[in-house]
Amino acid sequence: MHKLVRSARFAVKTLRQTSLCARTITTTPFPEFADLSQLKSHDDLHKFSLENPEQFWGRLALSRLQWDEEFQSVLNCELEKGEIDWFLGGKLNASVNCVDRHLATRGDQLALIWERDEPGTEEYVTYRELSEMVGQIANVLRNSGVKKGGRVAIYLPMAPITVATMLACARIGAVHSVVFAGFSAEALASRIQDAEVETVVTADQGVRGGRIIPLKQAVDAAVAQCPSVKRVFVYQRTGADVPMGPKDIPLEKAMSGESTECAPVSLASEDTLFMLYTSGSTGKPKGIAHSIAGYLLYVATTFKHVFDYQPGERFGCVADIGWITGHSYALYGPLCCGATTLLFESSPIYPNPGRYWEMVQRLQLNHIYLAPTSLRLLLKAGDSWVNKYDLSSLRTLGCVGEPLNHEAWDWYYEVVGQKRCDVIDTWWQTETGGICISPRPSSPGAHIEPGMPMRPFFGIKPVLVDEKNEEVNGEDVEGALCLGSLWPGMARTIYGDHQRYIETYLKPCPGLYYTGDGAHRHKGGNYQITGRMDDVVNVTGHRLGTAELEDIMDTHPDVAESAVVGFPHDIKGEGIFAFVVLKEGVKHSHDDIAQALRAAVKQGIASYAQPDFILFTNGLPWTRSGKIMRRILRKIASNQADELGDVSTLADPSVVEGIVKGYKALH
Ligand code: WT7
Repeated sequence: MHKLVRSARFAVKTLRQTSLCARTITTTPFPEFADLSQLKSHDDLHKFSLENPEQFWGRLALSRLQWDEEFQSVLNCELEKGEIDWFLGGKLNASVNCVDRHLATRGDQLALIWERDEPGTEEYVTYRELSEMVGQIANVLRNSGVKKGGRVAIYLPMAPITVATMLACARIGAVHSVVFAGFSAEALASRIQDAEVETVVTADQGVRGGRIIPLKQAVDAAVAQCPSVKRVFVYQRTGADVPMGPKDIPLEKAMSGESTECAPVSLASEDTLFMLYTSGSTGKPKGIAHSIAGYLLYVATTFKHVFDYQPGERFGCVADIGWITGHSYALYGPLCCGATTLLFESSPIYPNPGRYWEMVQRLQLNHIYLAPTSLRLLLKAGDSWVNKYDLSSLRTLGCVGEPLNHEAWDWYYEVVGQKRCDVIDTWWQTETGGICISPRPSSPGAHIEPGMPMRPFFGIKPVLVDEKNEEVNGEDVEGALCLGSLWPGMARTIYGDHQRYIETYLKPCPGLYYTGDGAHRHKGGNYQITGRMDDVVNVTGHRLGTAELEDIMDTHPDVAESAVVGFPHDIKGEGIFAFVVLKEGVKHSHDDIAQALRAAVKQGIASYAQPDFILFTNGLPWTRSGKIMRRILRKIASNQADELGDVSTLADPSVVEGIVKGYKALH
C-alpha cells in the first residue's frame, strides 16, 4: 500500500487548506421530500417516515444509492418467519457506491486518514488510491478462487488495507467476517468454523499502544484447528519475519501482480454484505448478517443526518473496525456519503491521555465519535490533557456503546466541547446496523438532554413493553425496549441459524423487534437506556454473554460450577464478577485457580473479558425449579446485599449468606 499513499507532510498541507472551521449544527433538509408541501417540520417528516415507510425509504434509496437495476418493491415482509426483504429486484454493488461513484467528482479528495499507532506518522489515502487498492485486492481474491457468497475472515489491524479488503469482498460478492484483532486464536477459530471460512486475511503483526500483537501467530494457531481454510493472505504491517506455511500468501506481492481495475459484480439488494459476530445471552457468539442495499442506505442516511456531515469535513470514529461501529461509521456510512473518514490504530491513552485531543488538533477533525468508557478514563486523567490543544475544529461530540453518565456527559460538553458542540449519545446495536435513537437530527435548535439518546431516528418507532408483554404508554415509564417499525438496516438473519434469529429478536414480543435493553421514556417522549435485561454484560462498550464466560470456567478441572454477572464499574461501565464453586478435594490454592481461570478466559475470548473478581463459594443460589437466581448475584456483586428481596424460592437459602460473607472478605 505504501506506494499508493502520499507522504504525510504533503497531505497535511492540503488538509489544512481544505479544512472547514466549526459551524453551528443545522438540520440538513431532505431534498427528496421537497415536493411534499405538507411536510413542514422535522416532526412532520418523522411521522411521515413511520406512516409511509415505503415512500420514505423508497425515495431515499433511489436518490442516495447508485443502482445497476432499480428495485421493484420497497418492502416485503413476513415478520413471524423473519423474512424481511427491502428493495427486491434491485441490483447494486456496495464498493461501487462507496468508491467508484465518487471518482468523477472527488477522486483526489481524501477518503481515509490513517492515524497510525505512533502520533504524527499518519498517512492519507484518496478515493482514487482507495479504488486502486480495492481493485487489486478484489482481483487477488477472485483469482485465488474466492467466489460470490464465499466467507472471508479478516483479522487485521485498523488500517487502509483492512477497509480495502472489506470493499474488495463487497466488489466480488464475497461475505466478509471481520474478527476483532484483539480476540484470541480460539475465538478466531470458532468464528472461522461457524462460517466455514476458506479465506483468511491477516497481517504479520499489529501495533497498539506501542505494543506488538502477534496476529499471524494467532492465525496459525486458529487455522491449525480449521480444515476449511484454504488460503491465508498476510499483509506486512511491521515487516516482521513471520513463518510462512504452504497456505500463506504475501498480500502485497499478490497485489503487485494484479490490475487496479476489477469489474464489480452486480448483486441483489438482499445478498449478504457481511456478517459480524456478537454475543448473546445464551450459547456461542452469533454471526449477525446484514444485506447490501438496506444496510448501506441506513448507515449512509444516519451518518449524514445524525452528524449533519457536510462535504469536506473530517469525521473521526475511533472505534475499531472489528466492531459494528467501525463497520457503519468508520467505513460504510462515511464512504457511501463521499466523506473523509479516520482509521484510528492506537489507544486513547497512548502515549498519554491527550492522544485524542492532540489528534483532533493535528488532523483538524470536525466530528469525533467514541465510547463512554474511554471518556470516563480520560476525565479521570484531568482537564489539562484537553486544554493543551486547540479543539476549535470540532463540531460534534458523538458517543456510543453504553450509557453516557451525567458526569461524563458534562465533561464532554464543557471541557472537550467548550459548550460549543452538540453531544450526540447514540443508541443502537450490531443487529440494528445503524443508529436508532439519537438527539439529532431534530427540529432546528432543539434542546439536547444530558444522559440519554433521546429521539428515534426517521423510520424508528420505540415501544416499551412490560412483563405481561403489553405496551407501556405515557411518559415517565419504563419497560423492555422494542422497535415497532421496520427499518432497512436491521439484520436479516444469524448466519446458519435463522431459527435462533426468530427466537431471539422476533418471538419475545410478537410483532416487534426485541432489543434486550430496558429503557425509560421521559417527559417529552425522550428515551434513556437503562441497560441490558438479559444475561449480556457490556464491558468497556463490548458485549459479552455471561454464558460464554461460564462455559470457559466450567471446563477447568477443579471447577464444579460457575455463574458470572456484571456490576457497575466506574470506568468500564460494567465489570465482570464470577462466582465459582470448586469440586471436592481440590488441591490447588484459590489464587492459583483464579489465575488459571483468568488465563483461560483470555485464551478463550480476549483479555478484556477477564473477570475483575472471582469469588469462591460453597454453592450458587439455585431455585427449586433449577435456575440460578442471578438477580441475587447481581445485587451482591453491586454491594447491595441489603436489597436481596425474596429468597424463599431458593433450594437452599443459606447459600446466600455464605456468598455475602465471601463478598465482604474479598473487599
Ligand atoms: C448494546 C449493543 C452499537 C455500537 C456499539 C455496541 C448498549 C449501545 C448505547 C447507548 C446505552 C447503549 C446496549 C445495546 N448500548 N449504545 N447510547 N446508551 N447503551 O454494539 O456490541 O451490538 O452492543 O450496547 O445495551 O444493546 P453492540
